[in-house]
Amino acid sequence: MKQSIRLAPLAGVTDWPFRALCFEQGCDEAYTEMVSAMGYCYAPMAQATQNLLYRAPSDKKLILQLFGKEPEWIGRAAAELSGQGIYDGIDINMGCPVHKVAAAGEGSGLLRTPNLASAVMKAAVKGSCVPVSVKIRLGWDESEKNFLEICRRAEDAGVSEIAVHGRTRQQMYAGSADWDSIYQAAEAVSIPVYGNGDIFDAADAVKRLHGGPVAGLLIARGAMGNPWLFGQIRQALEGETVQVPDTAEKMRIAMRHLDMLLSWKPERIAVREMRKHVGWYLHGVRGAAELRRQVNHIEGAEELRNLLKQTMAQGEVGET
Ligand SMILES: Cc1cc2nc3c(=O)[nH]c(=O)nc-3n(C[C@H](O)[C@H](O)[C@H](O)COP(=O)(O)O)c2cc1C
Repeated sequence: MKQSIRLAPLAGVTDWPFRALCFEQGCDEAYTEMVSAMGYCYAPMAQATQNLLYRAPSDKKLILQLFGKEPEWIGRAAAELSGQGIYDGIDINMGCPVHKVAAAGEGSGLLRTPNLASAVMKAAVKGSCVPVSVKIRLGWDESEKNFLEICRRAEDAGVSEIAVHGRTRQQMYAGSADWDSIYQAAEAVSIPVYGNGDIFDAADAVKRLHGGPVAGLLIARGAMGNPWLFGQIRQALEGETVQVPDTAEKMRIAMRHLDMLLSWKPERIAVREMRKHVGWYLHGVRGAAELRRQVNHIEGAEELRNLLKQTMAQGEVGET
């Protein structure tokens, strides 16, 4: 079976315009940014939540990610949201390392309470009318690496697939992802396991896909400012020459990204949100440091578009 290449959930990044660009380049499936189950249950129509929940026509296959530790809220949110017939799956976040989330026992904090994690997964499976997946880390820290137990519990709870980021919570993003453990997880359960961690180019992806029995990959940081990575991975897998975007192509996509954001949000907000993306698109572009400095002071769409056009005209790629 074809291994699926997915855009991982990235809070503050993977909204529909960015997902659209990744899908265009060949991404197979994507996740929403994480959504609080309790937040949704209390205020389902809040604009911020509705923005996170929005599925655009460009979303080929979209998995909604929920976080929370109360089985009741997770079950209710999974039931209501899956019942809308909008999403292809519901994912439970059991990997977020952010202090506010993990210290509250949510995200990666759930890995420390396996019984509660089981209850949360069961509630999601019971409530949802679409497949339920979970996204985990290897454990809380080196002394609490319980990913195999959590994977077995997920399978027992009726979860359809698991994504494993090969780091512990304590590691945050330090060191490198442990793919041997990811493969171990894939061998320990009979449901599909997706690998996640440190895929930054097509060669990384090919190596990890061929290295063990994973159903596919989740790509997060490697896709930021680089939606082309999805196409490059397919090219590499099919033995074709990997196409590298030049500055003009990067700026063309940045402008389309801006236009999509402007079609959805007020100009001031769209431009502010676009700043970080432009910073990433500028990776590898000559003069990137100075351009980033300028971008961070821009408030208007026209000014930002002009800067992108000028950079496009400059048209040279070089290390910064
Ligand atoms: C800015 C940022 C936001 C993230 N937001 C989420 C999130 O909402 N849900 C989630 O499960 N993981 C989230 N993650 C974790 C990523 O999905 C992924 O597991 C992690 O970055 C490792 O993959 P990578 O090496 O490809 O970046 C986030 C990571 C980053 C850097």
